[in-house]
Amino acid sequence: MCGIVAYIGDKEAFPIVLKGLKRLEYRGYDSAGIALINNEGIANFKQKGKVSFLEEYAEDKDSSGTIGIGHTRWATHGLPNDVNAHPHLSGDGKIALIHNGIIENYDTLREGLKARGHVFHSETDTEVLVHLIEDIKNNEKVSTAEAVRLALNNVIGAYAIVVMSIENPGQLIAARKSSPLVIGIGKSGDFYLASDATPIVEYTNEVVYLDDEEIAIVERNKGLRLYNIQNQEKTPYIQELELQLEALEKGGYEHFMLKEIHEQPRSIRDCFRGRLNVDKGWVGLGGIKDYEQKLANANRIIMVACGTSWHAALVGEYLIEDLTRIPVEVEYASEFRYRNPIISENDVVIAISQSGETADTLAALELAKSKGATILGICNVVGSSISRITDAGSYTHAGPEIGVASTKAFTAQVTVLTLMALAIGHRKGTINESKFRRIISELELIPDKVAEVLRENDHIEHIASIYKDAANALYLGRGNSFPVALEGALKLKEISYIHAEGYPAAEMKHGPIALIDEEMPVYVIATKGTSYEKVVSNIQEVKARKGKIIAVVTKGDTQVKGMADHVIEIPETDEHLVPLLATIPFQLLSYHVAVMRGCNVDQPRNLAKSVTVE
Ligand code: M6R
Repeated sequence: MCGIVAYIGDKEAFPIVLKGLKRLEYRGYDSAGIALINNEGIANFKQKGKVSFLEEYAEDKDSSGTIGIGHTRWATHGLPNDVNAHPHLSGDGKIALIHNGIIENYDTLREGLKARGHVFHSETDTEVLVHLIEDIKNNEKVSTAEAVRLALNNVIGAYAIVVMSIENPGQLIAARKSSPLVIGIGKSGDFYLASDATPIVEYTNEVVYLDDEEIAIVERNKGLRLYNIQNQEKTPYIQELELQLEALEKGGYEHFMLKEIHEQPRSIRDCFRGRLNVDKGWVGLGGIKDYEQKLANANRIIMVACGTSWHAALVGEYLIEDLTRIPVEVEYASEFRYRNPIISENDVVIAISQSGETADTLAALELAKSKGATILGICNVVGSSISRITDAGSYTHAGPEIGVASTKAFTAQVTVLTLMALAIGHRKGTINESKFRRIISELELIPDKVAEVLRENDHIEHIASIYKDAANALYLGRGNSFPVALEGALKLKEISYIHAEGYPAAEMKHGPIALIDEEMPVYVIATKGTSYEKVVSNIQEVKARKGKIIAVVTKGDTQVKGMADHVIEIPETDEHLVPLLATIPFQLLSYHVAVMRGCNVDQPRNLAKSVTVE
């Protein structure tokens, strides 16, 4: 939610910050803005809408300057318009600030500042913060950096901010609490600051991730100083980025989402590389090695997540309970954190998050930690907040996911959960050797089988063309295919704006069946396995009400083929692994429907990739 970028060095800042904003646009695209310091003072360019609008707007204007800060917004306080766009300036126009997060006590702060003569132009919480810094600076007669520190001591909420002041054009001040911020250390005394490493990677691979309540002061050709909010100096921990620049490009695909769907054979393989050895009959997750016994002895595993990651957790519940016999609960992080849950020291709480920054998931983990539980993470973004606060964890290694709709992150999360369930089950002896060997052999074949499903693209596109105008859709599945149904429905609604619901197929009779008529496409996962015959009966029930059946079936199936309006075949695999294959047709289907409906696939309306506000 909201992306921030800043640069200080010898180069022109505007093109660097602009390019950075384009890379971060997935975090919000309600408005964009860049402020620079040059001979004229602070030049502040702001535009409602996408970064490209800002680029056009600034084209014929003086955008010179070697220090600049930029912001791409996902609106929280105030409409998406030019005035509410960041950067925001202090009343005297000498300080500029960008912010990702929410200042919860902004109203109280604003009233106090108003009483002291401050005038506000926007409806944002951010403008309050920059005025507060100005107020403290002028009244306490302190430096801008010290004013930032004192102001942050008065703030309740979440923030990643970068501040620059006309009085010190060689300096940027950055701070974070609960919203991410990374500082790239350039090779010639220059610095690149951003919400994540994607705008930084083409300039340097040396980075410092700020921790909560840390304040960094970076000065052109002088270096980086780091403090905590109590003003004690700290030593910055410099890390090496592993991100590749090519991973951030579309690589010939029309959309990032399509590229990411097609990357899945590779991303799943990358996910189990070094963690699976079929010849030796071995599975292990290095990151949680020291916690395997703790997991095996756990009274209960609680998984907290949101959105697609929550669906992956539901698949994990089936896998872990079946293969390890440890009770699992899957919770919406946003509910868990506010309902005084019962957590004991023998519980293991696992957060699942692509970004590793989702505010609710982070808060749920903090709560679990405060109650003494062991907290683990399954994240995609290396160095993200969740990966840093957990006791241990496993990265999904899916590579950067830029499309707002999660695709390869989901299959990678399910792969990690599969490996985890297999490793614990094997250790506990709750899964026998032959079953263990069978599943790991099948898992190794999954990337090729995903590639086989992807070859069904044209057929799926054809089905999409038939149902693209349907106003509603139902997705049905049973067992571990139920979360796949939920995920299919989420994919369709979030990028094509068609109303869609996912249900356990047997729940149809308890209400949703009333929705079915000849206009209603019903997408069903009807693969071979324990529930096959039951799903066949559910299909009959839909057929009897004239619903249109689009079924995902196991290759060679004839029974469902005879009943459905359309079938999409997926290769046979072990039942535990079906979600990894069955989800692919739904990703492609949603993609094609959205394209045919003229929707912005990679940046759907009202959404942002990284939800850093609750
Ligand atoms: O980064 P996270 O996995 O924590 O994000 C959770 C959800 O915001 C995310 O999965 C969201 O539902 C996606 N847009 C789904 O495609």
